[in-house]
This record gives sequence, C-alpha cells and structure tokens, in this order.
Amino acid sequence: MKEKLLEFKEYIKKIEYMNSATSVLYWDMRVGIPSKGIPYRGEVLGHLSGEIYKLQTSDTMKGFIEYFDGLENLDETTESMVQRAKKNYNQTKKIPEKRYVEYTVLVTKAEAAWEEAKSKSDFNIFKPFLQEVVDFNKEFIGYWGYKTNKYDTLLDFYEPGITVEKLDKVFSGLRVAIVELLNKIKKSDVKPDSSIFTTGFSKERQEAFGLFVLNKMEYDFEAGRLDESVHPFTIEFCNMDVRITTNYHENDLKSALFGSIHEGGHALYEQDIPDSLQGTRLGQGVSMGIHESQSRFYENILGRSKAFWTYFYPELKKTFPEFNSISLDDFYISMNEVLPSLIRIEADELTYSLHIIIRYEIEKALINGEIEVEDLHKVWNAKYKEYLGVEPNNDAEGVLQDTHWSGGSFGYFPSYALGNLYGAQFLEKILKDIPDFYQEIEKGNLSDIHSWLKENIHKYGAIHTPSELIRMVTGEDLNEKYFIEYLNKKYSEIYNLK
Ligand code: CO
Repeated sequence: MKEKLLEFKEYIKKIEYMNSATSVLYWDMRVGIPSKGIPYRGEVLGHLSGEIYKLQTSDTMKGFIEYFDGLENLDETTESMVQRAKKNYNQTKKIPEKRYVEYTVLVTKAEAAWEEAKSKSDFNIFKPFLQEVVDFNKEFIGYWGYKTNKYDTLLDFYEPGITVEKLDKVFSGLRVAIVELLNKIKKSDVKPDSSIFTTGFSKERQEAFGLFVLNKMEYDFEAGRLDESVHPFTIEFCNMDVRITTNYHENDLKSALFGSIHEGGHALYEQDIPDSLQGTRLGQGVSMGIHESQSRFYENILGRSKAFWTYFYPELKKTFPEFNSISLDDFYISMNEVLPSLIRIEADELTYSLHIIIRYEIEKALINGEIEVEDLHKVWNAKYKEYLGVEPNNDAEGVLQDTHWSGGSFGYFPSYALGNLYGAQFLEKILKDIPDFYQEIEKGNLSDIHSWLKENIHKYGAIHTPSELIRMVTGEDLNEKYFIEYLNKKYSEIYNLK
C-alpha cells in the first residue's frame, strides 16, 4: 500500500503542477498581458484545462480511487485526499464529455455577451445566453442528482455540506436583524461625512500606505507580491508564491486600501498552509465561505474597527496630512457610514449581506424553476426596493452588475455572507482565547491574531470540511447569532442607538 500511495501522490502532484502553471498564465493575463495577446492566451488556457480535466477523470485516477476508497487505517490527510479526488472525479465524470465541452464554449460566449450587455445596460443582450447557462446547470444537476433541493447540489461546490435548509434559516434571521437595525439607523441624528475619503489621493501615497498595512498584517512579501488589476484578486501558485492585486482610484481612498486588506486576508490563509500538504490537493483553503471569513475578518472586523485605527490613524496621517484636522472618532464614524445602495461591491458592512441574500433567493428560485430568466430584472428590482429601499435606474446597476452568472457560478454568492457569519463566530472564540485582543490591536500588534488564525484554521488547509472546522474551532455549528450581536453592538455605538 505504501508504494501505491507514493504513486498516487506523484499523480496528484502532476495535476498540481498543471494547475500552478495555469495559474501563472491566468495571473499574467489579468495583470500584464498586452490586449492583442488575449485570444491566444485564451486558447492556451483552454487547452491546459482540457489536459487537467483528462488527468482528473482518467482510468488511472479511477484506479487510485477504487483502491483507496473505503480502505481502513488511512491517516486523516490521506483519507481527505482520497475523498476530495473521488468527489472531483464524480463531478466531472458524470457529465457527458460532449456536453462539458459545449458548456465551456458557451460560458466564454456568455461572459463576452454579459460584458457587452453591461456596457450598454441592456439585459436583452445577455438574456438568451443566460437562459442557456441556466438550462445547462439544470441539466448537470440531473446528472449529479440531488436529495431535497436542486440548488443544494450547486451550493455544495463552493461550501461542502451547506444546504438550502440551513441557509434559509440563518439568512432569514440575518435579514430581519439587519432591516431592523437599518430602520433605527435611519432615524439617528449621527450623520457621518464620507466625503473625507474622496478628495483626491495619489496612487503613490495609497500604495505606500497599503504596503505598510500589509507588512503589519505579516503578509510575506518574500512569498508574494502586490500588483494592480481591474478587479482585485488573490491567486496562489504554491504556498510560497501567493500574489494579490488591488485597484487604485485617486478619488476614493477606501477602495484600494480595504481591497488590499481583504486580499491580504485571503493570502495569509494560503501562505500559512504547511509544506506537508503540498502535493495532496489539500494545500488550499477549504471552501469559499471559510476563505471569505479570513478576508472579511481582516477587512471588516479588524480593518473597520476603532482599535485598528487607534494605531493606524496616526500612521495614515503621516502619509495623508489632509486628515490632520479630522479626529479619530469622526474618521472612524465616516468609515462606517451605513448607506443602502445599489452596488454590492460598494456596500457598507451592514447592508452588504442583504445584497447577498437577494442573490441567494433569486438563484434558488431560478434553479428550482420558480422564476424564469425572463422575470429576472423585475424580481431583482422588486427585491432591492423591498430589502434596501432603493431601485436601479438601469440594468447595469441592477441585474447586470455582477459577472458570476455569466460564468455559470450559481451557488457562489452565499459564500460572501457565510464569511461574515463564520468570521463573527471565530471572533467570539478569539475574545475568549485572547482577552486583551483589542488592546493589542490598538498597539499595532497584529501578530497574536495572525498566530491564532494560523494555528486554528490556516494550518489545516482543506483537511476538514467547513462544518467540521467551525465545530472544531468554536464548538458550535454555523449560526447567525454572533454576527447579529456584533452588528448590533458596533452600529449602536456608532449611531448612538438606544
Ligand atoms: Co474575497
């Protein structure tokens, strides 16, 4: 068996090499490629993903899975590795190859159609493509099967173990709590002035301060780098090369700064994964939701806290003396202004989850055939009016704003809100383990919290499922309670609520 395991690991390693090479090409395409080079790069990436598909679904892979699956006395890591390979094999293998290839081609076209539709703000351009993407996903669910709800099958790709039943429960509690808090905030006399962040800040200064914060976070620049791209992202080639990007806007200080902190949170997770998990396919974050819990922890729970700015505000003023006349309190309150808006990625910490709940409800209904693509923009606008009290003027700021659906990523959106919930559950435990947590943050010590996250979450990579992990770390299952408490406490103080 020992020999067979070595062979299996060698085989898995080959897949990881291919993935790593693909990631480098992908990173380069988004960060540095000249525009004329894009079509050929697309061909190369298409070819490579086909080769990876073959390795993952080959008879050799099938042989390994059949040999190891159900074998007793496997250590925890090997068992996880086998189960991951098996799941992956089944997911891809169950789809007829011809349909898989057709879908890959369709998605490329749908992404281009979405871009055109968004730039012209015309949902009709995107509609026929979206219809096909939805039909394909429904057909795939037919191959994969489902237990109680068709949408569960798609959720499982991004957050293994998460179901409609669980999400309905936590999201409905969360929605009610946020709307209640929002109504109180509307009546508050506190009126934050967020114009202080939009007066013009050169890219050079923003970059210098962003690098300062990332260094304090202990992002390892010898195992990573910061570049620019239109949409910020994190990508790993291995645990020793985890890169992040950000996007500078001269008239918005917050965008690049919080973008860098967010991606830095993702990157710490990947950089902290131990060498021993390389070559097992477990050397990565376990799920999108847990990943978002790390990025959002740094961006919001830390990055938008008073303790964080108690240390960083004097530092910020060294780079941006225009803030010298603004008190820490005013700065902090302005940074946390709550303003229901149309665009998800610009939303404040409180209303953000409502944007996600809207998308979740729409996707769930769409995949289960309760609404049609035809109705999407009407449903979208009605939900925005009901939950956030705002209505899009056009499709670009409404149903066309996100790219996810054009790529067929149904089931992805809930990860963002799950990240908020997990993050608050972790915080609850952190405050027990590190009683002087906030005092240390006030001193600029981000080391203790980094060590805690590394020791309790990062070091496991993808060995445990998300539900196992949250239970192991906090002793509880996923729930909305702690995030609601966190929001209530934070915004009651800021908005002086009774
Ligand atoms: Co993220």
